[in-house]
Amino acid sequence: MLYSFEERRKWQNPETILAGIGLKPGETFMDIGCGEGFFTLPAARLVGAKGKVYALDINGEAIERLRERALVERLGNISLVVNSAEETLLCRQCADVVFFGQVLHDFRDPGSVLRNARKMLKPGGRLVDLDWRKEIMEIGPPRQIRVSEDEAVRLIQQNGFVVRAIKAISPYHYLITARPDIRH
Ligand SMILES: C[S@@+](CC[C@H](N)C(=O)[O-])C[C@H]1O[C@@H](n2cnc3c(N)ncnc32)[C@H](O)[C@@H]1O
Repeated sequence: MLYSFEERRKWQNPETILAGIGLKPGETFMDIGCGEGFFTLPAARLVGAKGKVYALDINGEAIERLRERALVERLGNISLVVNSAEETLLCRQCADVVFFGQVLHDFRDPGSVLRNARKMLKPGGRLVDLDWRKEIMEIGPPRQIRVSEDEAVRLIQQNGFVVRAIKAISPYHYLITARPDIRH
């Protein structure tokens, strides 16, 4: 189900979530599977002119809508890319945060996407995976396509990360923070 930004803000506040993960002015943020920019736009405002946001999505129409929204707000610090996350390295070791917003279950090959995230992160950077709890609820995608916290943790660990924190950030969502595993 697709929600308008306005509707979605009734149960999810992107500014609060981005502040909670410690995103700071001047940082480089990668929004992988960004959609129309529910997190991209607040991240671009937060990192400011000295920061940088990369927004990647396989859906060109979503990226065009995000481009229009960024233009209206005159946000000049967003790079928009249409491609699959499995096949895209946006840089090597430039990112402070690689962010997956309710998207891990959508990737055809989540392992490849995670290994790309690992390569794009600075050594001290962080991976943030926000996703739906695998439960039946009145909003969100069907339970059977959701990735549980345990499955997400296993995937993240198997692909070169050390999990640092797992939090329930609403009745609907969990948020996992991980760091590149220096042994990889
Ligand atoms: C549920 S939406 C979430 C969008 C956004 N993160 C948000 O929170 O609003 C999932 C997005 O992932 C994108 N997507 C799915 N598979 C992808 C892939 N392999 N590479 C890049 N983007 C992908 C879809 O086009 C869609 O925009």
